[in-house]
Amino acid sequence: MVIKHWCKTMGRISTDAIHGHEHKDSLGSHIPPIYLSVIYEYIDYEIGEAVFIDRGNYLRYGREENPTTRALERVVAKLENTEDALAFNSGMAAISTTLLHYLKSGDKIVVPMELYSSTFALLDNLSPKLGIKVAKVWPSAEAIVEAVDSSTSIVFLEVMTNPTNKVIDLEYLYKHLDLDKVVLVVDNTFTTPILVKPVKYGAKLVVHSMTKYFGGHNDVVGGVLAGYRDTIKTLWEWRRMLGGILQPFEAYMILRGVKTLEVRYEKQSRNAQTVAEYLAEHTKVEEVMYPGLTKNPYHSIAKKLFEKPLFGGVLSFRLKGSYNDVITFMKKLKLIKRCPSLGGTESMAVIPSKAAAKFIDPEHRVKLGITDNLVRLSIGLEDVEDIIEDLSQALNF
Ligand SMILES: Cc1ncc(COP(=O)(O)O)c(C=O)c1O
Repeated sequence: MVIKHWCKTMGRISTDAIHGHEHKDSLGSHIPPIYLSVIYEYIDYEIGEAVFIDRGNYLRYGREENPTTRALERVVAKLENTEDALAFNSGMAAISTTLLHYLKSGDKIVVPMELYSSTFALLDNLSPKLGIKVAKVWPSAEAIVEAVDSSTSIVFLEVMTNPTNKVIDLEYLYKHLDLDKVVLVVDNTFTTPILVKPVKYGAKLVVHSMTKYFGGHNDVVGGVLAGYRDTIKTLWEWRRMLGGILQPFEAYMILRGVKTLEVRYEKQSRNAQTVAEYLAEHTKVEEVMYPGLTKNPYHSIAKKLFEKPLFGGVLSFRLKGSYNDVITFMKKLKLIKRCPSLGGTESMAVIPSKAAAKFIDPEHRVKLGITDNLVRLSIGLEDVEDIIEDLSQALNF
């Protein structure tokens, strides 16, 4: 597969995150305004011509294009090193639009058996309706390659699985899959372009839940697809038909959040590393799942793939004890919030088997190690000493 050429970046990752919107107006405003208008006037009413937006579409109607949303798309395309991007009102809107576009009756999709729960729920619901086969395999590049056959139209995966943090070797996939025949879609929500740019490994589309690290403040829901110009053009039609465009206020919030993506991600990763090392030594902890730990079985793949010596802000650990002990621990947390989601400023804890992972098939949950005594932490931007103090008092029972 020949990897095509990408949009021009303004600089390195933080420079692109700050300046990549390329907004210019007659007032000299450097910050893209929130364009609330849903309607844009035709220049030539007879032939329906309106103002062009930079990907060659007319700016006419808010379900098609919005200038604030467009500014964010320019930033994301630069961060992911792709030609273009398309923003949606949630990560699931981006994922469902992708699956509806690519899957047709008789197709097979190959996914790791550990995947974001609503993506599974969607596939499980689409499978009987569309007559598609969903092959759920062990989360490794080798197992994925083995499962791909001539009926496979898509491989869809997350670089780092949730909640057990297994890392999939994209380099191996790139070497062993025929990416002209099968579309590789990579959900890069956990790892972000700070750690890995999936297009480097032949991904045709990169997905993000921007609700997580891109937004970064637990106050906005959004999603995005980044990829080749012609792919994005086709998906643009699907976005228009399905109605999933990201709204301008949310686009503005994410434009603001994404400017600090790199500093936030770096600090969250450093905090998570410290917390993982602390928990690994704790007598009440059976196992810590974090690829930043040198003993972790995914450490070497992560080190090879990741562009920085950082391993993300999410870790999971297995408490020595029963589900009731986990409940006691969770109830004792003070600073760390008992909430779903991840990637924001606040540290949060969840019991995956009772939350998102409940859509993973029960026998797969057992194989993957998603037991009732597993806790997932999304580490925030607080002072790490305070996070550890909270964990320490909550583990003291
Ligand atoms: C890896 C991953 N992908 C996709 C999604 C869906 O994103 P959203 O909640 O923005 O629809 C999530 C949400 O948690 C996620 O963790």
